[in-house]
Amino acid sequence: MEGKSFYVTTPIYYVNDVPHIGHAYTTVAADILARFNRLMGNAVFFLTGTDEHGQKVLKAASDAGLSPKEHTDQLHGNYKTLWAKLDITNDAFIRTTDSGHIEIVQELLQRLYDKGEIVKRRYEGWYCTHDERFWTDKDVQDRNCPECGRPVEKIEEENYFFLMSKYHDALVRHIKDNPGYIMPETRRNEVLGFLRSNALGDLCVSRPSQRLSWGVPMPFDTNYVTYVWFDALINYYSATRYLINGAADKKGCWPASVHLVGKDILTTHAVFWTTMLMALDIPLPKRLFAHGWWTTEGRKMSKSLGNVVDPFEMVERYGADAMRYFLFREVTFGLDGDFSEGALTGRINTDLANDLGNLVSRSLAMLNKFFNGKVPTPDAVEAELKDLAEGILSKIDGQLDELSFHKALDEIWTLVTYLNKYIDTNKPWVLAKNNETAGRLRTVMYSLMEGIRFVSLYLYPYMPKSMGRLYNRLTGEDILKVNLQAVSIWGLTEKEMQIQELEQLFPRIETEAKTQPSGKPPAAKTSSKEGCLENVIDVIDIADFAKVKLKTAKIMGAEAVKGSNKLIRLTVDSGEERQVVAGIGKHYKPEELIGKTVVIVANLKPAKLMGVESQGMVLAASDSEGLTLITVDREIPAGALVK
Ligand code: MSP
Repeated sequence: MEGKSFYVTTPIYYVNDVPHIGHAYTTVAADILARFNRLMGNAVFFLTGTDEHGQKVLKAASDAGLSPKEHTDQLHGNYKTLWAKLDITNDAFIRTTDSGHIEIVQELLQRLYDKGEIVKRRYEGWYCTHDERFWTDKDVQDRNCPECGRPVEKIEEENYFFLMSKYHDALVRHIKDNPGYIMPETRRNEVLGFLRSNALGDLCVSRPSQRLSWGVPMPFDTNYVTYVWFDALINYYSATRYLINGAADKKGCWPASVHLVGKDILTTHAVFWTTMLMALDIPLPKRLFAHGWWTTEGRKMSKSLGNVVDPFEMVERYGADAMRYFLFREVTFGLDGDFSEGALTGRINTDLANDLGNLVSRSLAMLNKFFNGKVPTPDAVEAELKDLAEGILSKIDGQLDELSFHKALDEIWTLVTYLNKYIDTNKPWVLAKNNETAGRLRTVMYSLMEGIRFVSLYLYPYMPKSMGRLYNRLTGEDILKVNLQAVSIWGLTEKEMQIQELEQLFPRIETEAKTQPSGKPPAAKTSSKEGCLENVIDVIDIADFAKVKLKTAKIMGAEAVKGSNKLIRLTVDSGEERQVVAGIGKHYKPEELIGKTVVIVANLKPAKLMGVESQGMVLAASDSEGLTLITVDREIPAGALVK
């Protein structure tokens, strides 16, 4: 087997759900990692799929007049279609109704039963039919499910239990001894905190088949089916046994390198899955990474609010590459993020059309103009540029290992920015006018082509279509066949190679403010000679403004930062809880602030002020009398977008 083995998974998605941006998010993350690792020469196995058992599927099937299997046969295709549109390169697609999966679930259940890890017990608890799970007296308030709020019913029955409680200490030890097991660190601390204050109970892993028939029958008692999570989690392991299909280099890919999950399902993975594997003596995965949730325009996405972002529509409108880029540029993987089309078009226009697209188009246009499209032989090596370009690989390798997708993009962007500046300082059009500078012009144009080749290589996992095409145009090679380490060496662009110009990679998106229905330009675009806004203040494009996310935030807590008479640490609810440090201590006392709804910049890079992290900035106006916070004119939910 060449390279290391790298096995990445997404959660298996509920087959009944309509695929949304949250599903797309995890799957694109896995795809970026899979593509990067393949490019590094590693033996990759990338798994996604659908979770197809349970009461909800049964009900939806009977509503549609279909058998549950017919129903899931139809529905799982929605995910496959979306993955094709997003250029996802999963190696396998698992369905929990596959006979191969069911056999392995039963094999493992039997093994646990034979080892005495699963026992039958009489049980009494509050059952939520919607969530298909039991709750204890302590969990249930007013006889409603703490998860979905629906009424629960008291059920007394015999069931099979996995003796999870005995793994409490081993689980805590494993998490403590392996800091990279649960990431990010805040989530790891949450799991440890939960385990500190809750002794693990045993897990009910069966459901009587008269109540729930659509599940994997318990191999030792067919009056019961398996609890849906127990069946679902095993997918990660079962796939490695029956879905690898003769790809010899992928054999032995268990344990998984990383399971990607959303923050809401971390506990099931960190607690249920880990202890199940411990009881089975199967090696544990190397890492569980829980990412945050996307909201839309500051609010939780929900069908009832009608604000669920449809990834099909976004890809149709903006293209898969732009969408993939945006999801990982906009928000730190691990934190919550807010989706808006304004922010997406902002990113397309500034980062992709301006920074990257212009770099490529003007460089190729100059190559065409000055050298008829033939790469010139350089007179010298640009050492600084060479070091920058070559040095990025080891940095992004480490960053992607930690799933810091945005940091890796920052790193790659230093090269994009450098190259744009390189054009501006070297002014190839001036060099071209003068025969004496012909040598310099050759070096500059060669270095540009070479720099862009590195950019296309590094950005390819994020934007495979456009960057694969660009790489092919620059080298004549198929990027799928190259080894990243072998080709990220300066000087490999072939001299005298003919390079065709490329159609525009990322066309600018005309925002509404730019094109008036009348076709006339908006007021702010009139020429400065006519005396307009541009003379008064530096105007910015709507796309620039769209980059700044302002939100309402309710102040829940406030305390002075130790050692500072100016800084106050605020805990705010901005749709999600965060802490913001504000320099308002000379104008407000902490206790006066609690309960106020203020406006914050919600997408500011976190920064430390006197050692305290601030995740945003509170807006305030000031004049000679002092400073006043910007508040709202009426009650408005925390997290509303300010536009
Ligand atoms: N079937 C289970 C997973 C079993 S894995 C052994 C399940 N499925 S799901 O379809 O409901 O959710 C799948 C993933 O989508 C979860 O990781 C969840 O966090 C993610 N998301 C759902 N809504 C989301 C957002 N709004 N934003 C980001 N991810 C979100 O749970």
